[in-house]
Amino acid sequence: MLRSANKAKGNISSVFAHLGASTPEIDPRFLELKKQIAPKNPDVLRKAFDRVLNAMEIESQTIRQRGSAVIPEVTMEDIKANGGRLPSKLIPEVKKRGAVVVRNIVDRAVAAEYKSSIQDYIQRHPGIAGFPEDNPQVWEVYWSQAQVKARSHPNFTATAVALNHLWHGDKKAPINLDSNLVYCDRMRIRQPGDGKFTLAGHIDGGSLERWEDPEYRRCYTKILEGKWEEYDPYDVTHRIEANMDLYDAPGGCSMFRIFQGWLAISKITPGGGTLRVCPLVKEPTAYFMMKPLLEESMGTSNFMGAWPGRCQDITTEDHPHIVDSMVSVPEVDCGDGVFWHCDQIHAVEPKQTMKTDSSVLYIPSTPMCPRSSDYLRRQRAAFEQGLTPPDFPANDCEEHFDDRATPAMLTEEQKLGMGFAPFSETDGMSEGQLQAIRDHNRSISQ
Ligand SMILES: [Fe+2]
Repeated sequence: MLRSANKAKGNISSVFAHLGASTPEIDPRFLELKKQIAPKNPDVLRKAFDRVLNAMEIESQTIRQRGSAVIPEVTMEDIKANGGRLPSKLIPEVKKRGAVVVRNIVDRAVAAEYKSSIQDYIQRHPGIAGFPEDNPQVWEVYWSQAQVKARSHPNFTATAVALNHLWHGDKKAPINLDSNLVYCDRMRIRQPGDGKFTLAGHIDGGSLERWEDPEYRRCYTKILEGKWEEYDPYDVTHRIEANMDLYDAPGGCSMFRIFQGWLAISKITPGGGTLRVCPLVKEPTAYFMMKPLLEESMGTSNFMGAWPGRCQDITTEDHPHIVDSMVSVPEVDCGDGVFWHCDQIHAVEPKQTMKTDSSVLYIPSTPMCPRSSDYLRRQRAAFEQGLTPPDFPANDCEEHFDDRATPAMLTEEQKLGMGFAPFSETDGMSEGQLQAIRDHNRSISQ
């Protein structure tokens, strides 16, 4: 089956409670879940949470002082010069902040050409869906030739692999960080003055699932034991099989999206309707995971911003210390990329105040693992038919466009990431890597 029954027509607003999506009731059984997973002694989490508050207080001073500059940046040249890895002296800071700007992924002129060709594509086909419906800024466009090229640009793939390698896991864990698969997402051309495509603080990758799914919860064992200082946000071991979508959410990402990301196809300054992040990973994760389990919240099933089938909302009411520590990402030029950790709290600036458009192609970093390979096969079928990828609302706007990208246009290299050609095993691969490749090749041969 290409897509689940829950993927109705729509746009990006179906994902976010604050863009109008409804918030279902939380079943009382979640009260039981709290009792089951919280330490028996309430002091354990109380003390741990107090230490998080203290850490957030200290960190927020630096964040306020440095603003956008707190987010580290690296150039494509630096990655290439270091054999395809981030320079080692940068790694601790990138891992601490969770977010990174990568400069010059795509040549500026090439990235500008991506945008103008997509604008032409949209103009040639009036009536493409988007958000907001009356004046789309986020388009339900997935198969323009420029998007397909950008997602498989060799520098983009090299960046994704460098980022994948910030993670580690058990040698037997079925994942191959050396091979990135292509996740096909939509794009944004945000016009000057737009105030509608704003996203409040949130985290993707499910919400209640982080506590409810036993395997997903295992990623946060240290936090739930009150030892959040020992929590490693870059361990893939329990994320590979974690169920991040127990409720068939409209906005769920079926691949293992290790870093979310976008490639700028215009210049974007802070204030230009850009991304905002809380530039820390460990502390905010500990904060939002522990807070609903503190003694004073144990009498309610509320998980603070977590709703079945929605992403995790981060609000001033429940998470003031996190909201107060958010910054806009630094100015980027056409061809630069921004990436952020899958548990990173992020938002979109309420207003686009630049005089020119603020435009990005959403492209994450998604290493090969069974979950991603399985989705790739379904995504490939959508690509072949020009249908909307299975994770997104079933608008199928591009089905009858004769100028969309097609599999025949893919180079040999692009065929790999899009699931049209098998990957090869090489000497020295770990047991887990080999397993991921074998599983992948079997998956795409179906
Ligand atoms: Fe998001």
